[in-house]
Amino acid sequence: MAKILDGLKISKDIKHEIKAEVEKILDNKKRAPHLVAILVGNNGASQAYVNSKVKDCEDVGFRSSLLKFPATVSEAELLEKIEELNQSKSVDGFIVQLPLPKQIDQEKIIMAIDPRKDVDGFHPENFGKMALEMDTFLPATPFGILTLLERYGIETKGKHCVIIGRSRIVGKPMSILMGRKDFPGNSTVTLTHSYTPHIEKFTQSADIVITALGDPGFLKSEMIKKDAIIVDVGITRVDDDSVKGYHLAGDVDFESCAEKASWITPVPGGVGPMTRAMLLKNTLLAYKTSVY
Ligand code: GUN
Repeated sequence: MAKILDGLKISKDIKHEIKAEVEKILDNKKRAPHLVAILVGNNGASQAYVNSKVKDCEDVGFRSSLLKFPATVSEAELLEKIEELNQSKSVDGFIVQLPLPKQIDQEKIIMAIDPRKDVDGFHPENFGKMALEMDTFLPATPFGILTLLERYGIETKGKHCVIIGRSRIVGKPMSILMGRKDFPGNSTVTLTHSYTPHIEKFTQSADIVITALGDPGFLKSEMIKKDAIIVDVGITRVDDDSVKGYHLAGDVDFESCAEKASWITPVPGGVGPMTRAMLLKNTLLAYKTSVY
């Protein structure tokens, strides 16, 4: 039976570490780190994510601001706000919650963010630095997965890591990070996606499988090898009458895979809380580089 990679527990440890740093900052009569989140429209999942990020800031003693815009907001209006945040001396980092409505060019918005305040690590300058193993903000979800593996002492060197999904937020950066020379990297990486025929041919030989698909229960036990390490990034809302609403489902068929794997992340309580903790880490880093 697989052991649990407990993202909720590790994220709490990290939040305690960050809180202790903030207390020292405040003792030194410096201002608290400040994260701003921009939320556009009324996507339920995005609203929930952003509210959690604001709550996380409160938990560790950061200042936070939530800027809400209607789904009809123009690109120009958003760009104007971004420029204001870029210039603001009281803002250390900010994020624009994705996805954005269709009339807005997502890449144009991301390009407008000052890379020094891009705590999501989405700007091409930061993405390039990440790929070249230079110090920068790492995208929160891949950073969270690496930290989770690191804190559990999981060896990645020389392992075959198969990633399912090539999104700009998870799959693509994850594929780069797992192959980097620093720990926990040094894996041989296979990046699979919607045009990969017979994904199971790859996953069956993988030491580590990272799924970021949004397809509940996609990864079945027949698709993995014995003692594999399974990291589930999927988090899909599935209608559920028994709870008069929905429950969250991962990409991994947890019951069957947990019997075969050596380590596995649960959903919820695995990668999700780690992503949130890494946003705090990046914000603290942005603060330290600007205020110190
Ligand atoms: N949408 C889904 N995940 C993320 C994230 O990590 N950051 C932002 N800005 N939007 C997201």
